[in-house]
Amino acid sequence: MTNPFEYAHARDDIAWMAQNTNHLPTHPLVKERLREIVDSGEYSKYPIAAGLDELKRLILDDLKLPEYDLHITNGGTEGLYCLMRYLLPEGSQMITSDPSYFIIHKFAKIGGAKTTDIPIYGNNFRYSIDEIKKAITPETKAILLIDPLNPLGTTYPEKEIKEICDLARENDLWIVNDVTYRDFAPNHVLTTKYYPEKTIVVYSVSKNCGLAGLRVGALVGPKDFIKDIKGHMSADLGINILGQHAAVAALETKNEWLPGMIKTCNLNQEMIRDAVEMVPEAYLPVYPSAATMMVIDIEKTGINGNDIQNELLYQHQIFVRAGDYVSATFGEKFIRVSFSIPTSDVERFYEQFPKVMEKLKR
Ligand SMILES: Cc1ncc(COP(=O)(O)O)c(C=O)c1O
Repeated sequence: MTNPFEYAHARDDIAWMAQNTNHLPTHPLVKERLREIVDSGEYSKYPIAAGLDELKRLILDDLKLPEYDLHITNGGTEGLYCLMRYLLPEGSQMITSDPSYFIIHKFAKIGGAKTTDIPIYGNNFRYSIDEIKKAITPETKAILLIDPLNPLGTTYPEKEIKEICDLARENDLWIVNDVTYRDFAPNHVLTTKYYPEKTIVVYSVSKNCGLAGLRVGALVGPKDFIKDIKGHMSADLGINILGQHAAVAALETKNEWLPGMIKTCNLNQEMIRDAVEMVPEAYLPVYPSAATMMVIDIEKTGINGNDIQNELLYQHQIFVRAGDYVSATFGEKFIRVSFSIPTSDVERFYEQFPKVMEKLKR
C-alpha cells in the first residue's frame, strides 16, 4: 500500500480531513497580493530578516498585545524548534499532555529534555491543575499549553487559565501558549492576560488564514525575551516573502471572512456529529470542538483506526487520521477528523463513514 500522504497529494479529489488545515476561502485580496508579488519579482531578494513591519503590527493587533515583540518564523514549527532549544537545556523538563501535538515534544527531546506527557484522555480532556502541580520537579522549565488542543479540540475556561498562570508564577516557569487554533475557539483567553512576564505565544497563519503551504508563523513574547532569543533563531535570511504578503492580506481582511468561516465549521461539525451518531458505540468525547478538528472515539466498536483511515482514503478518497499520530497511550481509541473544509467534502464523510464502519465490523 502506498504511503497515505503520497497517495493523497497525488490526487485532486481528496476530502482533506487529516491535517487540520483550512481549505475554506478567506478573501480575494490574498490571491491578488500573491500575484502582485510574483509579477514584481520581489522573491529574488532575501526578505528583510526581521519580517515585514506590516505583518508584525497585524499579528500584535490580532493578539491585542501591543506591548510585546515578535520574530516572524517559518510557520509555528520553526518558532517551536528554536524555542525548545532556548528554553530547555539537557536534563530539563517540560509539562506536556498525551494526547498532544507530539512534534513539539520531539523538539524538546532532541536537546535532551524530558516531557511529562500527563494522560488527559477521558479526564476532562485537558490538564487539571492538580496534575500539573504533581508533575512539576526542580528540573521543570515550562508548561506547554496548546489551547485549543490538537487533537481533542478542548479549550481552557478563563478560571483555569488563571490557575495555570498562578502555578507557573509560583514555580517561575515559562508558559508556551500555542494558539494555532485560537480563532476557532469562542471566548479564548491568552495566558498573557494573567502571566504577561513569562508567556511566549506561538502564532501561526496556517489554520486561521488557510496558509499552511506558505509557512508563516511567529514567536510573540515580552520585548526582552524576543531580544534575547534572537541569537537562537535559525531563519537569518528571512521568511518566505510570498507567505508574508499573503498573511498581511489575510489578516487585514480577517473581520470580513472569519465569521463566515466559523459558521461553515460549525455546520461541518454538526454533520460529523450526525454521522457518528449513526455508528453504534462510536462517540465524540469533545463536542463541539474549539479547533478545526475533533476526535471520534472508536474503542468500543472494536475497529482499528488505521483500518478506518485506509478504507476511507483508498476506497473513498476521504483522508482522516488514525489516533496513534497524536497519542502514544490512547491512539488506538480514536481517529482524528478535521472540518475546516468545504461542506460538500464533509457530506462525503457523512455518507461513507457509517458504511465503512459497518463494513469493517464484519
Ligand atoms: C498545535 C500546533 N502547533 C503548531 C502547528 C504547526 O503550525 P505551522 O503550520 O504554523 O508550522 C500545528 C500544526 O498542525 C499544531 O497543531
